[in-house]
Amino acid sequence: MPELVHYTVHDDVAIITVDNPPVNALSPGVPEGIDAAVARAAADPAARAAVLIGAGHTFIAGADIKVFGTIPSREVSIERSHRIHALLRRIEDCPKPIVCAIHGTALGGGLEFAMACHYRVAAPDARIGQPEVLLGIIPGAGGTQRLPRLCGVATAVELCTQGQHIAAQRALAEGIVDEIIEGDLLAGAIAFARSRAAAGETRKSRELGANIADRALAAATFDAARLALRKSARGAHAPFAAVDAIEAGVLRGFDAGSAAEIEIFADCVLSEESRNLIRLFFAEREAAKIPGLPKDTPVGDIRSAAVVGAGTMGGGIAMNYANAGIPVLLKEADQAALDRGLATIRKNYEISAAKGKLTLEQMQRVLSLIRPTLTYDGFDRVDIVVEAVFENFDLKKSVFADLGRVTRPDCILASNTSTLDIDQLAQSSGRPANVIGHHFFSPANVMKLMEVVRGRASSPRTIATSLKLAKKLNKVGVLVGNCFGFVANRMLAYYLREAHLLLEEGAGVPQIDQVMTAFGMPVGPFGMQDIAGIDVGARIRQYLRSTGKTRAEGPESPVPDWLYEMGRYGQKTGAGWYRYESGSRAPIPDPLIEELAERAAGERGIIRRTVSDDEILSRIMVALANEGANVLDERIAIRPGDIDVIYAYGFGYPRHRGGPMAYADSLGLPHVLAKVKKYRARLGDHWQPAPLLERLAAAGKGFYDAATAATAG
Ligand code: CAA
Ligand code: NAI
Repeated sequence: MPELVHYTVHDDVAIITVDNPPVNALSPGVPEGIDAAVARAAADPAARAAVLIGAGHTFIAGADIKVFGTIPSREVSIERSHRIHALLRRIEDCPKPIVCAIHGTALGGGLEFAMACHYRVAAPDARIGQPEVLLGIIPGAGGTQRLPRLCGVATAVELCTQGQHIAAQRALAEGIVDEIIEGDLLAGAIAFARSRAAAGETRKSRELGANIADRALAAATFDAARLALRKSARGAHAPFAAVDAIEAGVLRGFDAGSAAEIEIFADCVLSEESRNLIRLFFAEREAAKIPGLPKDTPVGDIRSAAVVGAGTMGGGIAMNYANAGIPVLLKEADQAALDRGLATIRKNYEISAAKGKLTLEQMQRVLSLIRPTLTYDGFDRVDIVVEAVFENFDLKKSVFADLGRVTRPDCILASNTSTLDIDQLAQSSGRPANVIGHHFFSPANVMKLMEVVRGRASSPRTIATSLKLAKKLNKVGVLVGNCFGFVANRMLAYYLREAHLLLEEGAGVPQIDQVMTAFGMPVGPFGMQDIAGIDVGARIRQYLRSTGKTRAEGPESPVPDWLYEMGRYGQKTGAGWYRYESGSRAPIPDPLIEELAERAAGERGIIRRTVSDDEILSRIMVALANEGANVLDERIAIRPGDIDVIYAYGFGYPRHRGGPMAYADSLGLPHVLAKVKKYRARLGDHWQPAPLLERLAAAGKGFYDAATAATAG
């Protein structure tokens, strides 16, 4: 077994190096190795101080997340936590100064090890954080205790409840880091360690009291945090648990606080919330691995790009490339549209700059990377083109024919279409192997999902390059098969079908939206349509009807089309499913919708009734899972985890619930199937149990037990 922790002595300073690629996670053997190395340094007459550092590109990125799933009981969790707490106390009690040198990231348990050292120095681009809540747990190795003692209650609460990474400069300002080292980090850390040894200083984080002395201020901070979390946590429990653990230590002292942390951690680590979040963490990384696509598949290096169409989506897509430092040509059909598109881009950057998210200099730099054009000049030099013109088949086909002519033979040709057939666009280009869908979500510069739509002829290089590019663009790329709506919107059609039919049957628009936001969705189905534009859905339905199809099996409520005919397109026209007053985005329920729903119910012979909140949630979730099963069975999605990642990043599905497929597993597939059958008996044959759902329920399995399948290609 490779040695996970190395011990060397540089002149008179011991260097303890954690070497556990890829991210120096605290896998079994690493904490013990650090413990032994610190004891060795303490006893080593050749060492006056020690530096703890990570090998490779990062310090310790945290506990080994895979281990959490193997904790069988509360007792085992508590016993393990006691061991790690005692270990960190031994490090902190070392009589010689220990300096932690941070580069890359010090996250979770990594930061907790760092805080048990006497001092911390960091590279200028290092980042630190306590991201445990994003995994449904809390810092479990004293983080909720040492952090407030270093940086104060408010910052500790912020870091432990939000889980974000902060930059070294902020960590310095907050007192978490003692010095930023420009240049050679190890050399700087050694010099720092020597200076502490010369001064005879060791500083124990657990003994610092000044930052937590003001009890009244701390109490007010806890109250305010809990109040804010009631909204922002969207039903997740772990952020509240983190506040509880910090509070225990601030009010009752380090030892009592540590004991509380250990108990609270044990509750969290065995929770369904944690299981769901950890599964999603790995599902996101798994999504980048494609069965049948070997690791050594050639990947194109995307150094320059072009986007065709500077509308809602094209502008946001161009911003993604510029933000990643990739120069991008932005082509429009006419000058007026180009000016409009550029003005929107500039406005978006100005808003970000006003919020302090980028400096004016950075804004100028990204803007200079976006090069407006009305012609195809320069398209022969780009590595990728993303087409984002109107959703019109003939127009898109002609654009792809142009692109086949004007670009280099190895240039990737991507379409941002939401609904059109990638294979037909591929044929038009004359270079089908290079064609693929890059389906971004609106607003494209904000939403992190990129469905990578594989056409029949998309080459392995085109697919592998697209997935790698997604990461470079700071997106989560998920490979999906080619069908109407791909994964996200195909399933969404069932989600919306149920919302519309429930409305006809007697539920109210605010009631349905409220049920879904209480479940954890950022916005309900009607509020969402008002944001996306009711006209968008109406045009898709019109197109489908012209081809004799519907978006989802079963009856289509006429109400959304009536809204479209009335010009109620949603927020942009001041009215849709709700009313909006003078530019405000606050939805106001509108009695007119009730009248329209009654009329629609009358036309279909439905007697309206009181619909329970439970029925609303069940109908919508069961419809999603049932269609998700079809998507899996048809190999449009490779794995249930891919669907869950798509829903988390495409629609803000509450992560702590795992995603539509994990949620169905948690209900139990026999239960989900029984619901489908019940709804079929009551509501009609459009409720058809998905064959995969039937097979898995009969076998007593969940979606996540199902064998990995490959996308249709
Ligand atoms: N444990 C186990 N594996 C981990 C890991 C961890 N903490 N962090 C990352 N990995 C693995 C990933 O699964 C991935 O493996 P594959 O290559 O096999 O897919 C590999 O490391 C690289 O990860 P990324 O693709 O995410 O690489 P990146 O460079 O984009 O990001 C990172 C690196 C920022 C560290 C990111 O991986 C990350 O955020 N990791 C999780 C950090 C975290 O949550 N730490 C807290 C753990 S909980 C804890 O520490 C509890 C406690 O108090 C004791
Ligand atoms: P949009 O109407 O805002 O923008 C389209 C732009 O394309 C217009 O500015 C138009 O002038 C330009 N254009 C038309 N023909 C052109 C040509 N030959 N050369 C250069 N530019 C041309 O449309 P939007 O919403 O940006 O949609 C673009 C594509 O993105 C569509 O395929 C749509 O289905 C898809 N999409 C839209 C989403 C949304 O929420 N709006 C979400 C995901 C995908």
